[in-house]
Amino acid sequence: MSIKTATLNGVATIEIARPEKKNALTIAMYEAMTQALRAAAADTTVRAVLLTGQPGVFTSGNDIEDFMARPPGQGGSSVEDSAVLQFMRALLDIDKPVVAAVTGAAVGIGTTLLLHCDLVYVSDEARLVMPFVALGLVPEFASSLLVPQLVGHVKAAEKLLLGDPFTPEQAVEYGFANAVLPAGEVLNHARRVAERFNQLPPGAVQGAKRLLRAPQRAEVLATIHTEGELFAQRLRSPEAMEAFQAFFQKRKPDFSKF
Ligand code: COA
Repeated sequence: MSIKTATLNGVATIEIARPEKKNALTIAMYEAMTQALRAAAADTTVRAVLLTGQPGVFTSGNDIEDFMARPPGQGGSSVEDSAVLQFMRALLDIDKPVVAAVTGAAVGIGTTLLLHCDLVYVSDEARLVMPFVALGLVPEFASSLLVPQLVGHVKAAEKLLLGDPFTPEQAVEYGFANAVLPAGEVLNHARRVAERFNQLPPGAVQGAKRLLRAPQRAEVLATIHTEGELFAQRLRSPEAMEAFQAFFQKRKPDFSKF
């Protein structure tokens, strides 16, 4: 199982655990995370969710083999019903606070999902990157809406068009994360923060979170839908095929023919 879950001291931990593939997320892993989020939402003993990865890697993003073999919207099924969109909605829907411990590299959705967490702690060894365009794809998880809001258009272009990585310190400066912690401490720190919700009234916490997210909720959902449709089309593009093949052949992609 590549997603481990455990509930202790009021905190439901969702751990991405596929280190041999740098925590790349498969359809089954999205499904397991969706189920874990829904279970945490329904369990009255859970006061907060803690999302974490492995030492050195949070997640390398969507599994590229899955992108090629089982893209969202395959065989006429709707993109809306895909495992990844269901995961996105589950993360948007949970009213309990979600705390992320970014234990290392956070690629693609590994970075964009942080936009939907409530408290984010980043290891000093983490690198964040959204390489969608270099893969022949487009931004997802409302990053095309939320990243420019956080950093302005020109910095967003650096991160989302050029795909420039950013440091943990920049993640804090840009408003993606609360603090940078030494690699060995980030998980425990995030857990201690998540446990603080045990001392707070859960109804007020959840009401406050809903209010914080409410003004943008409809726009975020609409953006996820629009991005998802284009993303699914791009996954079938010759540009994306070239990028994916280059990744597995461990070579630079050649976009000169497009
Ligand atoms: N999908 C599928 N397999 C992946 C993967 C992904 N997203 N990320 C890593 N892997 C696999 C590699 O193919 C490799 O498999 P192998 O051992 O069978 O050859 C293994 O995981 C180790 O990855 P590797 O690239 O050798 O590790 P690294 O430490 O040099 O680099 C990353 C780590 C995360 C920087 C690098 O793996 C990476 O850039 N991954 C792709 C990220 C990406 O583009 N994700 C999609 C975003 S939309």
